Amino acid sequence: MYTQSMDLSRETAAAAATHAEQAFEARIAADRMVEPQDWMPDAYRRTLVRQISQHAHSEIVGMLPEGNWVTRAPSLKRKAILLAKIQDEGGHGLYLYAAAETLGTPRVQMQQALLDGRAKYSSIFNYPTLNWADVGVIGWLVDGAAIMNQIPLCRCSYGPYARAMIRICKEESFHQRQGFESLLAMMRGTESQRAMVQDAVNRWWWPVVMMFGPSDAESIHSAQTMKWGIKRISNDDLRQKFIDATVPQAELLGITLPDPDLRWNAERGHYDHGPINWDEFWQVVGGDGPCNRERIAARQSAHDNGAWVREAAAAHAAKRAARSRAEAA
Ligand SMILES: [Fe+2]
Ligand SMILES: [Fe+2]
Repeated sequence: MYTQSMDLSRETAAAAATHAEQAFEARIAADRMVEPQDWMPDAYRRTLVRQISQHAHSEIVGMLPEGNWVTRAPSLKRKAILLAKIQDEGGHGLYLYAAAETLGTPRVQMQQALLDGRAKYSSIFNYPTLNWADVGVIGWLVDGAAIMNQIPLCRCSYGPYARAMIRICKEESFHQRQGFESLLAMMRGTESQRAMVQDAVNRWWWPVVMMFGPSDAESIHSAQTMKWGIKRISNDDLRQKFIDATVPQAELLGITLPDPDLRWNAERGHYDHGPINWDEFWQVVGGDGPCNRERIAARQSAHDNGAWVREAAAAHAAKRAARSRAEAA
C-alpha cells in the first residue's frame, strides 16, 4: 500500500515536471518572457547566472581603466562627463547583480567568484589606458561594441535581464557618443592630439574586435543560448555588424584602423577584415593579459575596504526590521 502510494506520488511529480517543462518550451517558442517565479531547467538558470554575473562583473571592472583618468581629465567638462559615465557603469553592475539575484544566487557569492578568479569578465578591461585619448576610444569603440552586443539582449527570454538591458542600452548610447565627440575634438586640435588618438585606436582596435568572443564554430555556449532565446545574434554576425558600422565613423574622424586587410566587399555587402589573433584573446581570458592581476587586486582592495560599509548597512537593516517588528506587535 505504502509502496503504491509512493509510486503514485512519484508519477504525479514526474507528470508535473513534464508539464512545467512543456510550459517552459512553449513560452520560449512563443517568444514570451520567462519570469523568476516560472519553472525553468537548471541548465537555463545556471547559464543565466553565469552570463548575467559575468556581465555585471564587466561593468564594475570596466570602471577601473577609466577611473585611472578622473584626476587627469583635461577640463572640468571632460571630468564631469567621465565621472557621470563611470557612475553609470557602476549602476549597470547593480541592475545586473539584482537581475542575477532573482535566479536565486546571492550577490556575495557572485562577487566572491570574481575575486577567486572562478568568474570571468570582459577581456577588454585587462588592457591599460595609457593616454587621454584612450578614454575617448573606450567610449567610441568599447561602449560601441557593447551596444551591438546588448541591443539584442533587450529581447532576451529572461524578463529581468531583458528589462535591465533596455535601461542600460540607453545609457551606453550616451557613452558611445561622448567618446566619439571627445575624439572629434582632439582630431580638430593639434598634431600631437591627433597622434594620441591614432595611437589609442592602434592599441584598442583588435582587442575590441575580439570582444564579441570566439568565432561561432568555437563558441561552446552559443548554440544552446541561441536555442533558449538568451542570445539572438551570433558572435561573428555581431562582430561584422560592429565593423560595418565603425569603418565609416573612423573615416569621419580621419583615423586609420590598424588592419591592412580591411576593405569593402561589394559581393557580400560587408567589410572584410584580417585574421584575429585568437592566441592573444585566450591568453587574456585565461588571466594573463596586461592588467588582469591589477584589476582583481583593485576589486579585492575595494571589497576589503568596503567591509565596514556592508557590516554597517546590515546592522542598520537588522535594527530597522527589529523596530518594525516591535511596532507591529
Ligand atoms: Fe555599461
Ligand atoms: Fe558604458
